[in-house]
Amino acid sequence: MMNGADPVKRQYEAYPYPARDPAKETDELVIGSPSHPLEIDHFIFGGQRDWTQPTRILVAGGGTGDALVMMAQIFADWGANVDLHYLDMSEASRKIAEARMAARGLSATWHTGDLLTAPDIGPFDYIDCCGVLHHLPDPEAGAAALARALAPGGGLGAMVYAPYGRAGVYEMQDALRVLVGDDEPEKQVEHTKRLITSLPQTNGLVRNPYIHDHVEAGDAGIYDLLLHSRDRAYDVDGVYGLMEAAGLELVSFAMPGRYNPRAVIADQELRDRAGTLPPQQAAALAERISGNLKTHVFYAVPKGSAEGRVAEVHGSAVPNFVGPRGHALAKSIWDKGGFTFSMDGLTVQRNLPKAVAGMVTAIDGKRSLNEIRAKLGWETKPFLQGFNNLYQPLNNFNLVRFSARRGL
Ligand SMILES: C[S@@+](CC[C@H](N)C(=O)[O-])C[C@H]1O[C@@H](n2cnc3c(N)ncnc32)[C@H](O)[C@@H]1O
Repeated sequence: MMNGADPVKRQYEAYPYPARDPAKETDELVIGSPSHPLEIDHFIFGGQRDWTQPTRILVAGGGTGDALVMMAQIFADWGANVDLHYLDMSEASRKIAEARMAARGLSATWHTGDLLTAPDIGPFDYIDCCGVLHHLPDPEAGAAALARALAPGGGLGAMVYAPYGRAGVYEMQDALRVLVGDDEPEKQVEHTKRLITSLPQTNGLVRNPYIHDHVEAGDAGIYDLLLHSRDRAYDVDGVYGLMEAAGLELVSFAMPGRYNPRAVIADQELRDRAGTLPPQQAAALAERISGNLKTHVFYAVPKGSAEGRVAEVHGSAVPNFVGPRGHALAKSIWDKGGFTFSMDGLTVQRNLPKAVAGMVTAIDGKRSLNEIRAKLGWETKPFLQGFNNLYQPLNNFNLVRFSARRGL
């Protein structure tokens, strides 16, 4: 599978994805999910990991380096004791990732090879696997290899494609395979560009305005979206099944709010009915009704070890806003007493009582909830009730995460 004949390897040698220019690396740090260090702490280590303890991390299918560079930079800024490893079968992708890391003066251990070899270089306390499993000939074997590469207490952050939000993509892949599949990759891209400028209004891709990669992400984006030789999507039940088959257990989706059917059902009687469903069925229902999930980003741990992994609201938890989007929302909450959040066509608007909105000014990634309460002069019970009102909508969209950054 790992030879030049593998069409997926050939694709990523010709079109490393996502396309990144190391010369522009220092302009901006690309932040993403899974694997923002605040998320890792929140979903795998209860928000309380001691980052002075040695932590081994693998980026499996690291591509052009987005997750690797993000983690390396943030952990370096924190002064965390992290040993980062990169594994990918594409040498062209690795070269780009290496140049990006060099541009920032950051280092990692580099491995070129198949994801199935991850256990040979483990064990790891955390593994990132973003946008890779759905391209493997046997995704269950890939997930199981990652599970075997985990150290005790470790966990996985992953992204796989989701079917309904990618409506329009798969019939175009099938159509293009017939029409241009025998051409050289560059020719395929050229033909595809011409085809997509003149598609009928009835075409599935034209009818799905939330798919952008073929418009915005250059030739590599076109190839990855429409010409991929091996690409499958997982619905919620498929994600649970994939984890189960690998001996893993889902801890949480990174944006729990997108998996809540009550957020997408307006009718009260039906909302109440949805509220009685067990978590997997509820999430599967939300996915089908919202229809706009293009990917599933989630965290998983070895089966039977999920309890206590996700950070919870308690006195010693330290809240942090995640990335520029989280910080912009914090400002909006303070300035306007609420926020509006849009994602793939779904908009959520929340107003918060002024006193609750005021809590955002005390969230600095250092103070614990106990310290924030003391600073603002609240009694414990009303403070926790008020904080929950602020926390739930931000938690729903992965905009605030608990990490005490212990030891740093
Ligand atoms: C869509 S890219 C995602 C890259 C990166 N994880 C990201 O999110 O930006 C998929 C990557 O997985 C790698 N890949 C696919 N199958 C692999 C395998 N069996 N072993 C190692 N790497 C693989 C490809 O070479 C490619 O770089």
